[in-house]
Amino acid sequence: MRFDIICGVPEILTSCFSESIIKRAQEKSLVEIFVHNLHDYSNDKHCKIDDIPYSGEAGMVLKPEPIYNCISHLEKERKYDEIIFLSPDGKVFNQKIATELSLKKNIILLCGHYKGIDERVRQSLVTCEISIGDYVLTGGELAAAVVVDATVRLIPGVVGDAESLLTDSFQDNLLCASSYTRPSEFMSMKVPEILLSGNHKEIRKYRLLERIEKTKKLRKDLYEKFLNKNKDE
Ligand code: ADE
Repeated sequence: MRFDIICGVPEILTSCFSESIIKRAQEKSLVEIFVHNLHDYSNDKHCKIDDIPYSGEAGMVLKPEPIYNCISHLEKERKYDEIIFLSPDGKVFNQKIATELSLKKNIILLCGHYKGIDERVRQSLVTCEISIGDYVLTGGELAAAVVVDATVRLIPGVVGDAESLLTDSFQDNLLCASSYTRPSEFMSMKVPEILLSGNHKEIRKYRLLERIEKTKKLRKDLYEKFLNKNKDE
C-alpha cells in the first residue's frame, strides 16, 4: 500500500512516520509513505501556495495550481484508488473507514489549511472527504497522520499479533478489555484472579463480558450497534 500526502507544512509529519510501528512497517515494505511539499509545486516565483479569498473574509485559501500540479505529477506515475481531502466537512473517520482504506493500493491524502482549498480542486480532483472529528484543526496534516496510523496498523504483518487486532476497540463495536501486567499485586491492588488462572477459555469469556459491560456503561451508542449487529446475525 502507498500513501502520498500533499501538504503545506511537511515538517509536522516527519516524526509521525519515522518512529515505532509505522517506521517498521515501511522498513518491511508493507507500506510506502511519501510526503509532498505543496511549495515545490507552486508556479509562483516566491513559491506561494495560498491567496486571499474572493469573498473578502479573513484567512487564506490554498491556490488550485500547486495542488493540481502535484496531483498531475503523481497520477502520471500510477493510478490512485482515492484522492482524499482532509476536512471538517468530511465523513467522520472511524474503524470501518480505516479497514476499508487498508484494502486499497494507492491513496492520496490532501491536507488543507485554515480556510481550506479552492472549491474547484474539491470538485474536480477530490474523490472523498474525511474529517477526524467535529472540531477545526489549523491544517489537515495531523488529520492525515491519524488516518495513516489507524489504517497502516490494519495491514497484515504490521502489528505482530494479528489476534490483538480482532479485539481492538471498535473492531466489533465493543471497547477493549482492561489490561494488566506484572506485578500481580501493586499498592495492595490485585490483578483479577481469573487472569492468573491459565484457563484460556474462561479468560476469553471474562474479557468478552468485561468488554460488553464497559461499552454498555461508557458508550451507549456503540452498545446499541453491538446489540443490533448480533441480532441480525
Ligand atoms: N482540517 C481541519 N479540521 C479538520 C478535521 N476535523 N478533520 C480533518 N481535517 C481537518
